[in-house]
Amino acid sequence: MYKPEKIGTPLQPNATKVMLLGSGELGKEVAIAFQRLGVEVHAVDRYDNAPAHQVAHFSYVIDMTDPVAVREVISTVKPDFVIPEIEALATDELVRIEEEGLATIVPTARAAKLTMNREGIRRLASEELGLPTSRYEFCSSFEEFKEASERLGYPNVVKPVMSSSGKGQSVVKSADDLEAAWEYAMSGARVANQRVIVEEFVEFEYEITLLTVRGIDPATGKAATWFCEPIGHHQEDGDYVESWQPMDMNAHALENARSVAARITNALGGRGVFGVELFVSGEDVYFSEVSPRPHDTGLVTLATQRFSEFELHAKAILGLPVDVTLVSPGASAVIYGGADSMGVSYSGLAEALAVEETDLRLFGKPEAFPKRRMGVAVSTAEDVDTARERATRAATAIKVHPGGDSVD
Ligand SMILES: Nc1ncnc2c1ncn2[C@@H]1O[C@H](COP(=O)(O)OP(=O)(O)OP(=O)(O)O)[C@@H](O)[C@H]1O
Ligand SMILES: [Mg+2]
Repeated sequence: MYKPEKIGTPLQPNATKVMLLGSGELGKEVAIAFQRLGVEVHAVDRYDNAPAHQVAHFSYVIDMTDPVAVREVISTVKPDFVIPEIEALATDELVRIEEEGLATIVPTARAAKLTMNREGIRRLASEELGLPTSRYEFCSSFEEFKEASERLGYPNVVKPVMSSSGKGQSVVKSADDLEAAWEYAMSGARVANQRVIVEEFVEFEYEITLLTVRGIDPATGKAATWFCEPIGHHQEDGDYVESWQPMDMNAHALENARSVAARITNALGGRGVFGVELFVSGEDVYFSEVSPRPHDTGLVTLATQRFSEFELHAKAILGLPVDVTLVSPGASAVIYGGADSMGVSYSGLAEALAVEETDLRLFGKPEAFPKRRMGVAVSTAEDVDTARERATRAATAIKVHPGGDSVD
């Protein structure tokens, strides 16, 4: 992976340039981290005024699943690094772009391609690497789904192979749920008639994100891997509502978690932050999935770590030293849109920020939906429980008011 020898000056011919493919709230923090290191930031999304557009040097609106549009923006800007922020991208074109040496894809084009589709990453994790996962089958038709469900038993979980944030995903409790679950999976899929994965339901005690950083060790000049303290989180309808760090874990479970994370991130290669999602029961750890980029539950690191996952991503990409020190226990709690509306406004900021050791991020998204993540409250405390209570109190204090152009 390319490592710049020097950092140029933004907006000058020698600028070191990064391009974000996807410009949401995670991309916005990545953009800010690069800005602070004097890197020129180009932010791409499918709609105008996305969060990272608002802090980048340049912004673009294209269909990022269109290979022609993706190639065009990359060959015009000629970024040193292309940094995917979302899964739904023209990843075959990214593979070609990387092969041609047009830009370095973070962490690798293959990682972007494999993680876009649940089938790619699950087969790599389970069948090639032998990592523990839930039992699973892939299906292309209702008949196959029914048969797989009978083999795997109930409850099971069905997910379109290309979807995120829980879209099209449901728990099948018995054969009576099969038809509704299939219909829902087909409606939530990113592309028509796609396959689904059916997974055995794992009765885990808790789930974690293990932020894993692949960078260069300054002592040896060689590739090395670092692990942040584990992040616990709570999911509702496939989206995280609350996360905290550190998650108190059994020492053997933590060792197993790090081993799983090291193996999957090694196989994906490149440099940067990975969010390894794991289910834990006692000492047993199951690999669920991995984001080859900062993870939403890792927003908590804005408060807890000396360097947030976004700063770590920027440094690791540039080949600079990585420091994963946890400074304080902490928590994050999500602020939702609450309604469908353009140009919302927010009140309760003073009340939220009066909560001890608490900070806010409002992402500036132009349009709100009831369940759209519009901001996050992050808190620290002596212990995780107090931090969780603080973050939730702050998030609840924020009220989102519909804008003038209310849409139904
Ligand atoms: N096999 C399973 N057994 C038990 N719970 C599961 C299983 N698969 C998923 N879940 C629950 O559903 C959540 C979302 O699943 P998953 O991460 O696969 O979906 P996703 O759409 O990729 O979500 P996101 O994009 O938010 O990560 C998990 O974090 C977990 O809480
Ligand atoms: Mg997930």
